[in-house]
Amino acid sequence: MSIISDDNDFIEKTENRKRENVLPQSCDFDRNFENCIRPKSFDTYIGQTALKETLKISIAAAQKRELPLDHLLFYGPPGLGKTTLAGVIAEQMGVSIKITSAPALERPRDIIGILMSLQGGEILFIDEIHRLNKIAEEILYPAMEDFFLDMTTGKSQTVKTLRLEIPKFTLIGATTKAGELSGPLRDRFGIIHRLEFYSEEELSQVIKRTAGILDIEITDDGSHAIARRSRGTPRIANRLVKRVSDYALVKHDGKITRDIAEKSLDILKIDHYGLDSTDRTLLKLIIEKYDGGPVGVETIAAAIGEDVRTIEDVCEPYLLQAGLLQRTPRGRKVSPETYRHLGYKNLQQGLFQ
Ligand SMILES: Nc1ncnc2c1ncn2[C@@H]1O[C@H](COP(=O)(O)OP(=O)(O)O)[C@@H](O)[C@H]1O
Ligand SMILES: [Mg+2]
Repeated sequence: MSIISDDNDFIEKTENRKRENVLPQSCDFDRNFENCIRPKSFDTYIGQTALKETLKISIAAAQKRELPLDHLLFYGPPGLGKTTLAGVIAEQMGVSIKITSAPALERPRDIIGILMSLQGGEILFIDEIHRLNKIAEEILYPAMEDFFLDMTTGKSQTVKTLRLEIPKFTLIGATTKAGELSGPLRDRFGIIHRLEFYSEEELSQVIKRTAGILDIEITDDGSHAIARRSRGTPRIANRLVKRVSDYALVKHDGKITRDIAEKSLDILKIDHYGLDSTDRTLLKLIIEKYDGGPVGVETIAAAIGEDVRTIEDVCEPYLLQAGLLQRTPRGRKVSPETYRHLGYKNLQQGLFQ
C-alpha cells in the first residue's frame, strides 16, 4: 500500500503543482518516484561543488566555441547523482539527451542505430559503460574521436568498408567501476570525474528539497537525523524520507521531527552510521569468523549470500570511506572502530560474541 497515493488531498496538491509547473507533467510518484524529484538545473543540484564549477566553465567554453562539450566520464558508487548530472548538463546546454546503458547495446546494430539517430549537439548518456562489449567499443572509438562510423558490408571477399559521417555529439558515460573501463575507451573522454559522497549538511538539503516536493513537513533536526543515516548518498536519503514520512503519518501527525525520524530509522534497523543489515552482517562475519580479517571478498560474498559485484559496488565504497573496512592485498579487514560501532567491548571479545 502506498500511503502517498492513497491520500486524496495529496493527489490534488500534486495535480496543482503540475499545473504550476513545480512538478513535471509526467510525474507519477508510485511509478517513477526518482524522476519526479530529480533536480533539473545546477541550482537545484546540491553539493559536488568543485565538479559543478568545472563543468560550468567547460559548458560556457563549449558554447562560446559553438562546439559540443568534450566527452565526459562520471564514476562513483550508485545513487550519487551521475544520471541526474547528465540531465542537468543537457538542460544547461539547451540540448536533448538520449539515455541508454551498456547492457542494452549488446548487438552492433544497437549502438550503430543509436549513433545514427543522434542530432547535432545532442548528448548520449551510456550508463554502466564498463560493461560495453569489445565490438561496441570499437564502433564507438571513431564516433567519439572524429564523428564517423566505419561500417562493413558484404562477406569475406566482397567486404566493403563504408565511412559514414554522424553529427557531432557529446558522450557522457557513467560507471561504478572506472577501473574496469578499457584503457583506449577511458582515453577518449576529455573530462573524467569522480562523484563524492555527500556531507550531512548537503544531504539535509536534499531531504528538505524532496520533502518540499512531496509536501511533507519536516523540521531542521528531522532532516539532519535522516541525513546522518543516509550513507552519504542522495538516493538513500530520498528513500528514507518516504519511509520516515509513512511512519510519521501513521504514528503521529505526519510531521517529521528528530524524534520521529530516529524512532522510525531504528525500526528500519538503520544505525547511526547508516549501515543496514547487509553491511552489519558483512562486518560481523569478518569479526566473528575471521578474527577481524583479512579475508577475501569471494569468501565474504559466499558466506553472506550476496554477489561479489554488489559487495564491491554498493556496500564497500561507503564502508571504506567511513573507515569501517580496509582493503589489503590479502583481503578485507575491519578497524578498531568497527568493533566499537558494532558493540564489541574489546577486540578479542569479537571471537566470542
Ligand atoms: N546533487 C543532488 N542533489 C539533489 N538530489 C540528488 C543529487 N544527486 C542525486 N540526487 C537524487 O538521488 C537520486 C539518484 O541519483 P542518480 O543520478 O540516479 O544516481 P546515479 O546515477 O549516480 O546512480 C535521484 O533521484 C536524485 O533525485
Ligand atoms: Mg544512474
